[in-house]
Amino acid sequence: MSATDYDRFMGRFSVPLAARFAEWVGVVAPARALDVGCGPGALTTVLAERLGAAAVCAVDPSPTFAAVAHDRCPGVDVRVGAAERLPFADAEFDIALAELVVHFLQDPASGVAEMTRVTSPGGIVAACVWDFENDRAPHAAFLRAVRDVRGPGNRPLRVGTRRGDLSALLSAAGCLAVAESELTVDASYTTFDEWWETHTLGVGSAADRLEGLDADGVSAVRRCALDLVGSGPIEVAATAWVSRGVAP
Ligand SMILES: C[S@@+](CC[C@H](N)C(=O)[O-])C[C@H]1O[C@@H](n2cnc3c(N)ncnc32)[C@H](O)[C@@H]1O
Repeated sequence: MSATDYDRFMGRFSVPLAARFAEWVGVVAPARALDVGCGPGALTTVLAERLGAAAVCAVDPSPTFAAVAHDRCPGVDVRVGAAERLPFADAEFDIALAELVVHFLQDPASGVAEMTRVTSPGGIVAACVWDFENDRAPHAAFLRAVRDVRGPGNRPLRVGTRRGDLSALLSAAGCLAVAESELTVDASYTTFDEWWETHTLGVGSAADRLEGLDADGVSAVRRCALDLVGSGPIEVAATAWVSRGVAP
């Protein structure tokens, strides 16, 4: 997946979410922070603005994303690696954050435990993930159109996408004073075609939803989506669960 496609589909939501997330967590200098699953650098950019680039590290398993984050955030130490095995020493950071990442982890419990390990006692560990439980992800209308055409299927909700999931993970990792809330961000599209196209770029959890459909099937999803969101302009509000805890 290219960073350009990611930006067109998810970046228009993850960039404003990053600003809200950092504000809610209370990212204030001086502090040393880690962005886990940084992607092309939406949250990394905000952390560097708030703390100074030299105080920020970022990590992502995708070499493509890590390279883009490195280019976009000069001076930030960006590494290739996975949340479940963070390439950092114990207690290296005052803040460890993961924006829109936990639900993609092979092992969410290990990932959050690792974030807690690299955070100094009294530091903050926090994560946010779209609310798929109540159809409040940015691409909820697209997913609904797919369901209307293909049937409900049997995809279980991923860990992190339901109320309380992130808090349970933080508590299980030993974090204290765990608190949860939700953050809503908006994005707009001029036309239905612009909206539709971003959902066909093969990004994130929209990536494989049209797979196996013939041209008529894709047209049926498109028509259904048009009925749901209209011809444009289209305003989309998306809401994420957000949770933070204090490292023990
Ligand atoms: C939806 S993107 C979020 C990117 C960025 N945090 C943002 O808000 O724009 C999900 C990111 O999780 C990363 N990811 C997937 N598996 C991961 C893992 N095991 N550890 C850390 N990051 C992972 C992906 O490479 C991708 O960059």
